[in-house]
Amino acid sequence: MEEKKQPTGGPYFVGKKDELIEAKRSVRTLEDRDVLIIHQQGVFYALDSYCYHAGGMLQNGDIEELNGRLCIICPKHKYKISLAEGESLYKATDPQETQPVPRWYSKGVKQRTHTVTEINGEVFVQLSKSRDWLESDFFQGEKGKLERAKV
Ligand code: FES
Repeated sequence: MEEKKQPTGGPYFVGKKDELIEAKRSVRTLEDRDVLIIHQQGVFYALDSYCYHAGGMLQNGDIEELNGRLCIICPKHKYKISLAEGESLYKATDPQETQPVPRWYSKGVKQRTHTVTEINGEVFVQLSKSRDWLESDFFQGEKGKLERAKV
């Protein structure tokens, strides 16, 4: 009888550096998890592919620098998620200020990010080891696929 392998989290080989740079954005399924790998301004990032809010496909989102941080803008409802931390950012004014000035605020980390390493031109992703629940977990795996189809 074949023994079922326990998930290890990786690191998993996800592609050659040159190919991933040329592609700019690539999706890999690692342990039933769809992970988006992005190369932006000379740095690789990896995060869950589906937006924590309602499962939007982040690989189709624009990337902008907001408040000094690179963020992906979800194409579905325009939520802004920092590439490095998976933090959800929004801009708002405080109506209690006499002259309200728009400022950036954080909703906290909502999107799971993963660790990318490069060795001799090969790129690897280590899945997040955190066991804490994050909203983006909801849209992963088989159950997540069904949830994404609903919204
Ligand atoms: Fe991404 Fe709503 S699904 S902002």
